[in-house]
Amino acid sequence: MLINRSVKTYYIVTTLANNSTPLLQISQLSIAPNKMPARLLVNNVGFNIEAGKTTCVVGESGSGKSLTALAVMGLLSKQLQLNAGNILFNDAELGVQDITMLDEVSLQKIRGKKIAMIFQEPMTSLNPVLTVGYQIGESLTKHLGLKGELLKIKIANLLELVGIPPARANSYPDELSGGQRQRVMIAMSIACEPRLLIADEPTTALDVTVQAQILKLLDDLKTNMNMGMLFITHDFGVVADIADQVVVMFRGEIVETGTKDQVLNHPQHPYTQALLACVPDVEGSKALKPIDYAWLNESVHEVVA
Ligand SMILES: Nc1ncnc2c1ncn2[C@@H]1O[C@H](COP(=O)(O)OP(=O)(O)OP(=O)(O)O)[C@@H](O)[C@H]1O
Ligand SMILES: [Mg+2]
Repeated sequence: MLINRSVKTYYIVTTLANNSTPLLQISQLSIAPNKMPARLLVNNVGFNIEAGKTTCVVGESGSGKSLTALAVMGLLSKQLQLNAGNILFNDAELGVQDITMLDEVSLQKIRGKKIAMIFQEPMTSLNPVLTVGYQIGESLTKHLGLKGELLKIKIANLLELVGIPPARANSYPDELSGGQRQRVMIAMSIACEPRLLIADEPTTALDVTVQAQILKLLDDLKTNMNMGMLFITHDFGVVADIADQVVVMFRGEIVETGTKDQVLNHPQHPYTQALLACVPDVEGSKALKPIDYAWLNESVHEVVA
């Protein structure tokens, strides 16, 4: 059963940017291993992201959240293939482009500049032998041609923006705390002021105070830069804080989409209801129910039949 409160099907791919077209439209995306094309890891996934809004993707481990995000970056592993689908990116400068049709050279012009990603494991995504200032500066030089004093000033501004003293530009990643490294990753991702920021569980490894600071930072940046944000999380507290739209994935498929209020307060799909039923409340008065997959499989089957 698919609970989609805003079903839209797009048949025409325009080449001109259009203000009424969403920033990103994913439609009918299917991904499978090359060697087993019938085993769909992502099956018929579609949703939109608007400029200045956050779409949260939730779902259990292995439900296809990261694969969907990697497809948007054009970074799917070579062992995987896109069986079907379009990913339309709407940019004032480039027009509407289907990311699934772009070659590597065209993708490199978009990646980091127009669409950036904070990866699921930021602690291992920084290069240990390069200073964080150098790593923040790389995309600024590559995409915007910044060098010398101008580059130094921009790096200092970015560090300040994410709450790190600019003098730390000369530090190596292992000289920073986990929270600071996470902020460096954010500084890298927003360096070129991308139109779309993908954040794949960027706060999962952090303590709650640092998590709250980083969520606030991302939310402010989204508003100030009018970025669209695709935010992947397991945490419904995070969804309640930052989401505009919510997409719920289960075993490679979207089972429910809607506004934050619709999905959190009036969940329609048994899986969303089961997910929410195992989130504790602050008082600890709620009786938590583990997800009963046997029942869920039956009820999903009944609804589909
Ligand atoms: N390169 C690959 N080859 C084969 N299968 C893969 C590959 N990458 C991912 N998968 C499989 O695709 C499915 C979806 O993976 P994905 O990383 O998108 O999950 P996820 O929803 O992000 O989970 P998590 O919350 O644990 O990060 C999983 O079953 C995973 O094992
Ligand atoms: Mg993942």
